[in-house]
Amino acid sequence: MRNTEDDVPQPETSSLENLLHETRSFPPTPEFAAQANAQPGLYAEASAGRLAFWAQQATELLTWKTPFTETLDWSGAPVARWFGDGILNAAYNAVDRHVEAGHGDRVAIHFEGEGGDTRTVTYADLQREVSRAANALAALGVEKGDRVVIYLPMLVESVVAMLACARIGAPHSVVFGGFSADALRSRIADAEAKLVITADGGFRRGAASPLKPAVDEALEEREGEPATTVQHVLVVRRTGGDVAWTEHRDVWWHEALESADVRHEPVWVDAEHPLFILYTSGTTGKPKGILHTTGGYLTQAAYTHRNVFDLKPESDVYWCTADIGWITGHSYVTYAPLINGATQVVYEGTPDSPHRGRWWEIVEKYGVTILYTAPTAIRTCMKWGEDIPAQFDLSSLRVLGSVGEPINPEAWMWYRRVIGGDKAPIVDTWWQTETGAIMISPLPGVTATKPGSAQVALPGIVADVVDDEAHSVPNGGGGYLVLSEPWPSMLRGIWGDLERFKDTYWSRFEGLYFAGDGAKKDEDGDIWLLGRVDDVMNVSGHRLSTTEIESALVSHEIVAEAAVVGAADDTTGQAVVAFVILRGEHADKAATPEGSDEVQLTLRNHVAKEIGPIAKPRRILVVPELPKTRSGKIMRRLLRDVAENRTVGDATTLADSSVMDLISAGLATPG
Ligand code: PRX
Repeated sequence: MRNTEDDVPQPETSSLENLLHETRSFPPTPEFAAQANAQPGLYAEASAGRLAFWAQQATELLTWKTPFTETLDWSGAPVARWFGDGILNAAYNAVDRHVEAGHGDRVAIHFEGEGGDTRTVTYADLQREVSRAANALAALGVEKGDRVVIYLPMLVESVVAMLACARIGAPHSVVFGGFSADALRSRIADAEAKLVITADGGFRRGAASPLKPAVDEALEEREGEPATTVQHVLVVRRTGGDVAWTEHRDVWWHEALESADVRHEPVWVDAEHPLFILYTSGTTGKPKGILHTTGGYLTQAAYTHRNVFDLKPESDVYWCTADIGWITGHSYVTYAPLINGATQVVYEGTPDSPHRGRWWEIVEKYGVTILYTAPTAIRTCMKWGEDIPAQFDLSSLRVLGSVGEPINPEAWMWYRRVIGGDKAPIVDTWWQTETGAIMISPLPGVTATKPGSAQVALPGIVADVVDDEAHSVPNGGGGYLVLSEPWPSMLRGIWGDLERFKDTYWSRFEGLYFAGDGAKKDEDGDIWLLGRVDDVMNVSGHRLSTTEIESALVSHEIVAEAAVVGAADDTTGQAVVAFVILRGEHADKAATPEGSDEVQLTLRNHVAKEIGPIAKPRRILVVPELPKTRSGKIMRRLLRDVAENRTVGDATTLADSSVMDLISAGLATPG
């Protein structure tokens, strides 16, 4: 279905105007340029022969059991086959081959627990642990093709668990530890998982936070629902807290590994063998299981990591702050850094525990050289004040990355000056769960960077900004971001729903991948991302669906109708604001201050239970009506005006144009 102007929020003109006045530019220093992995000729090389370029990357960056002879088969478009007849194993590429090359003693992971406990894991250690885990999974009956759900905090075991799955050809589906039991349950069911890997809990802000109870709840039998496909739950002991135990189903990770052999022959798979499914929010209430396969995904993950971060595996200490529950954690914690033989930091906790300088303390302690994080974190640190990072030695940092949402020029400048010492290049990387790896980004050492712009498609990638009619807009114009050519790490579909895959990404513009982002080309042709143009919100770099939160709200007995919007927020990018119509007497009750507080609390907790705490609305406004078009679609654009305290825009296409007056009047009333 094609969206119409009425239900597609357009990028804000105000933020667009601000961006257009941004003229600062930071060319690379000659010293950086001279030593950079990426050289300017890379663009010409890639455009001279795109497929040959990718074939070369796949050959150079990965080790193949059987080399591929065919680069791309697009005859089944939009499902691509890259390096289709090649055979390899992801875990072998991430671990074993480095040991075989004599780098077994190199540190793969510096683990830093929230409480300050540490663990150093070399590539040789990792090989033993991944092999043991692979044997343990096999002993529990997991075979090639079986799905394994991983629900863990940020631990060494989380990376090991993912790699162990990859080693036996069992696609993993990591569910972020902040999601609720219900959210976990629906993902387990959709993936028809055979095994779940979890922990007793993790540490967060100085306290143990349990995880296993959510798994127990997610696997409970429910009347009218099919029995779970899960046969075993493998439990990592992290906090040592009490856990409920289901005999014959639950198995301790450490016990299973203890008795497992340290040798394991990787299961060699076709390049197109599924590596993982990762659920992400879409424009409907049902999360989409984004499917990634092996050869193309690993090629692009490794290529981007090497060139965008200028990685030198012998000397760099790399740190990506993302959780493995998100695509950034998959591509730039588990896969790319290890494929490239890097040394990286994995940190369990939050930036402010036990103090607000924790991240910078970690940078100093390990001599981190490359830092990859999200704008929301940078803005939070800005708010805390620059005297905090000033207490630490950050001079080791030489490349800074940003991902997950548009970075405003002010945060970009702060990141560069305060964290990067006014010298480290910033790479603002645009990509998505669906793209698997970075697509648009400056190349450090090559690109003169601009605060707030992701700038150019990487060599080998073709992106454009088009208007409603799919025409490429001229420089200075704005429209929708599209990807015009298939790329190696592209999603291969939505798990179990090919039609939805075609419909969501390939039906808006013929032959083009529709990313769902608004974008603008400046006078130099550089791309500026302007946020989502569909019903997807971006809160602290986390992707949330308006419809999913609306369904959660209306599933509560007191709610008759709900509409959710993402309102601009200085720190988190967007904040969830919900408009609800309450049933019968609840509406009257909510009109009193105490009643209103109670409704807020009840509904916020309800959303946390249905989806997870990250989806809790920041504000819930009780309203008598919702603005709808004649065809019954909620006009979220108008509600965003209300949520952002703006004058309400054009409401002429509403079925009843007085509704907005009614909403505004109701909200103006105290209480
Ligand atoms: O809107 C874009 C925004 O994040 C969306 C993808 O979210 P997700 O699949 O969760 O992946 C996030 C991490 C790759 C995009 O559609 N986004 C991501 N990176 C940027 C961005 N928006 C602007 N600038 C970026 N660098």
